[in-house]
Amino acid sequence: MRLLFYAAKVYDRKSFEPVNEEFPEIEIDYIEHELEPLTAPLAKGYDGICAFVSADVGSETLQILHDNGVKYVLMRCAGYNNVDVDKAKELGITVKRVPGYSPEAVAELAMGLALAVNRRLYKAYNKVRENDYTLKGLRGVNFYQKTAGIVGTGKIGAAMARICKGFGMNIIAYDVYENPDLKDFVEYVSLDELFSRSDLISLHCPLMDNTYHMINIENIKKMKDGVILVNTSRGALVDTDELIEGIRLNKFLGVGLDVYEEETGNVYEDRSDEIMQHSVTARLLSFPNVMITSHQGFYTLEALEAIAHTTLTNMIDAKNGVHNGNDVA
Ligand code: NAI
Repeated sequence: MRLLFYAAKVYDRKSFEPVNEEFPEIEIDYIEHELEPLTAPLAKGYDGICAFVSADVGSETLQILHDNGVKYVLMRCAGYNNVDVDKAKELGITVKRVPGYSPEAVAELAMGLALAVNRRLYKAYNKVRENDYTLKGLRGVNFYQKTAGIVGTGKIGAAMARICKGFGMNIIAYDVYENPDLKDFVEYVSLDELFSRSDLISLHCPLMDNTYHMINIENIKKMKDGVILVNTSRGALVDTDELIEGIRLNKFLGVGLDVYEEETGNVYEDRSDEIMQHSVTARLLSFPNVMITSHQGFYTLEALEAIAHTTLTNMIDAKNGVHNGNDVA
């Protein structure tokens, strides 16, 4: 079976090539081009294509893939909001994805961001490198016996809850469904109560109409002064302008973001200097208590291996007509 791998980064090849040895029946060609209508004809002669969350897997692309004989679309990510599922079904293209490849990878980064903004590790690192061993601006708070509020207790939120438990925190959570695995140590509360009681708020729910901008000035005002906010989920859960307003009101001890509203592509590579001057992400970076990382939650050795393994298993399953929780269409 032949698989064309779109938008291949060096790290994709490094994780897929060794795993590919376990799947000798799959022959992979890697290309750097992103999947879109213009590049879809390149898949002529391939059984399947592999795409990422950044690809355009809309109706036009799917039609071209289908016309060129492609039967399987293997998403090497959990999200599939960029796939026209109805069109794929109409064309009989099987689409599979990789849900929950390594919840711990994202949860560990969430706690890393919380610790980094609390203890100002980015500032401490730079100070000591410049031979400044003073402690000015570095005072943090203990997490021990503080309250962690987890919004969304699916796979990643549950992993974050377990990490917070390890720190000796009290854990409260809000979710539309309660996770029975957490019942021994997590207290479910309303979202308002979570906002008002938490010392650390970590977002782990999906971006949907009813979660869009859930962190807005109205909700920020319900939070404790000196709260820490971490978002490793999706940028648009937070209204960035109103977050900046909250930061100006001195609400936050720290804010750690792995995701942000302006995230389409690399903010720095894709945007002109002029646009950057008006970028809210750049404005956020001007605050000393904000730390931003570049959507690296999933980026661990184990998570990449799991993605590669599941993606290639998905291709075999697609060929054999096996259906499971990885099915999109
Ligand atoms: P999941 O599907 O296991 O859990 C999501 C949870 O959110 C579920 O328990 C669901 O009931 C809950 N939820 C749904 N609507 C809600 C609402 N209105 N309020 C509160 N909770 C709600 O998903 P998983 O694997 O834990 O991923 C969570 C999020 O993490 C994903 O949606 C994705 O945006 C993000 N993510 C970030 C990565 C990164 O590299 N930073 C990598 C992978 C995922």
